[in-house]
This record gives sequence, C-alpha cells and structure tokens, in this order.
Amino acid sequence: MLNLGCGGRYRADWVNVNFPSTGPGVIAANLIEGIPFPDASFDVVYHSHLLEHIPKPLAWGFLKECHRVLKPGGIIRVVVPDLEAMTRSYLEALEKARAGKKGWDYNYDWMMLEMYDQVVRDQSGGEMARYLLGASIPNEEYVIGRCGTEVRNMIVAGRRSRSGAPVATQSTVSGVRKLFDVIPVHSFIKQIYGMFRKSGGWKEKLVQQLLGSEYEVLQAGRFRRGGEIHKWMYDSYSLGRLLLTCGFKSVAVRSATESCISHWSSQNLDTEPDGSVYKPDSLFMEALA
Ligand SMILES: C[S@@+](CC[C@H](N)C(=O)[O-])C[C@H]1O[C@@H](n2cnc3c(N)ncnc32)[C@H](O)[C@@H]1O
Repeated sequence: MLNLGCGGRYRADWVNVNFPSTGPGVIAANLIEGIPFPDASFDVVYHSHLLEHIPKPLAWGFLKECHRVLKPGGIIRVVVPDLEAMTRSYLEALEKARAGKKGWDYNYDWMMLEMYDQVVRDQSGGEMARYLLGASIPNEEYVIGRCGTEVRNMIVAGRRSRSGAPVATQSTVSGVRKLFDVIPVHSFIKQIYGMFRKSGGWKEKLVQQLLGSEYEVLQAGRFRRGGEIHKWMYDSYSLGRLLLTCGFKSVAVRSATESCISHWSSQNLDTEPDGSVYKPDSLFMEALA
C-alpha cells in the first residue's frame, strides 16, 4: 500500500513518499516528476490533501502514474478539500452574516480564509496561521468542526507558546525551488547561483546582495514552488471525471470511514484513534485500476 504526499501521516506498514522526506523510512520524491516504482507494484494507492497541490495541467499525468503503479483491480483513494462543501458553507456563512446572525461574521471570515488563503499566500501558514495562533478565536468550535485535527493542533500550539510551554510543530513546506524558472535573470548570475546554492548561508547572503530588491521575488517564488500552495480544487464531479479519463473505473464517493480497502478505519489515516474525522472538510473518493 502506497501513501503519497504523506506529510507527518506515515504508517510503518505502508510505503510512504513525501517531498521532502518527513520521517524515518519516508521516501523523498517529487511526485510531479513521476512515481518512482515499477508498473503494477501496489494493491492500494492513497493520497490525502496532495492532489490540490499539484498544478492542474499536471494532475492528469500524476493520476495516470497512480494508475500505472496499481495492480489491475487495485484501489485508489483520493482525499482532497471538498470544493462543493466549502462553497456551500461559504454561501451559508455569507447569508447568515448578511442577515446579522450572531457570530456568523466570524464564520464568514473563516470561510474566506479557507477558500483563498492557501491559494494566495506568499509565506508559510499565511493569514490562516495568524488567525489560529491568535490570542482569541471567537468561532473556535466552528473552525475545528470544519477542519479537524490539524487546526485543533495549531490552536493548542498557539496557546502553549503564549503560556511559555514548549511547542512541537511540523512544517509541511517542501524543499527544492528553482528560482530561475520563476524570474528571468541573466545567465551569468544563474551560474553563480548554481554554484552557491550547493552550500551554506553566506552564499545565500551573496545571492541576496546580487539580487537586491529582487530577492523578495526569489523568496516568494521559492515558497510558491514549495508544495504548500493550493494549485487547483476539486468537487466530486470534476475529480470523478478526471479519474475516469485516467482509466480508473467504479468511481465512488466515500465517507472518511467507508472504503474498499480492508480494515480501513484501523489504518487511522482519515480518522483518529478516537473515531473523529482527521480532515472533515474533505472529499473522499475511490476507484479501481
Ligand atoms: C497538505 S499536506 C498533506 C499531508 C498528509 N497527507 C495529510 O493529509 O495530512 C501535503 C503534503 O504533500 C507534500 N507534497 C506537495 N507537493 C509534493 C510533490 N510534488 N511531491 C511529493 N510531495 C509533495 C507536502 O510536502 C506535504 O507534506
């Protein structure tokens, strides 16, 4: 069983892949460049909140790769933020905020963050992190109800850091950035940068000097290529259609606990050990190769 873009959610009895590696045994591979396994290697391919980080024109090729590494009849399970549910919640929040219903102005603000912040941000965590790490979250229950464990952990981390207790956080931001794909720069500078980026900090400082005010553009480009940004969003219609065009069959929407994968709930990937849903804002879909 293969878990792609596992982040911190890797399991010992799965083959786990992330870019960069996030833990012991997690294979580092940039999945945009292909899935580094032979044809028909796996019974299950699973990815959660990865597909939306892949640029739309590359999503088809990535899912074709998932199909290639699955055995015939193997199961793909794709989990993404549910665009349809999100937009319905946005509309609900908009209508209730407009009608002046108590507390819904905050819910409206949260829905705007949920829809746009991860698309537009230039810095890790963006406005969403600022909101969740803030001293007061007036609609905490709503926010946790929508987004689950990760958001709860951030709120707890914020509280702990304000109280002076040590905080364990895990960054999901990935590594390799190709600056010069992002901004046009003279090839001489390109060569110097190529030499310097292989080693440490003083060389980075030199790049900073060379680029001057353009350095900010480099930093933004590095970040936006790093894997944290949402590059596209899916609903059950568009994801189902995409899976079909990649050769999958028996496409179906599932819940967090429902699956054709045997003993799914005990894997604790889409659920927590207490039975709660890990990312309640998700669309869960499965299909067969
Ligand atoms: C939002 S996190 C989801 C992590 C985990 N699957 C979960 O549901 O909590 C997305 C993960 O995909 C990884 N990722 C993004 N783009 C990637 C790529 N091109 N190749 C490999 N991993 C990638 C990121 O490093 C990050 O760990």
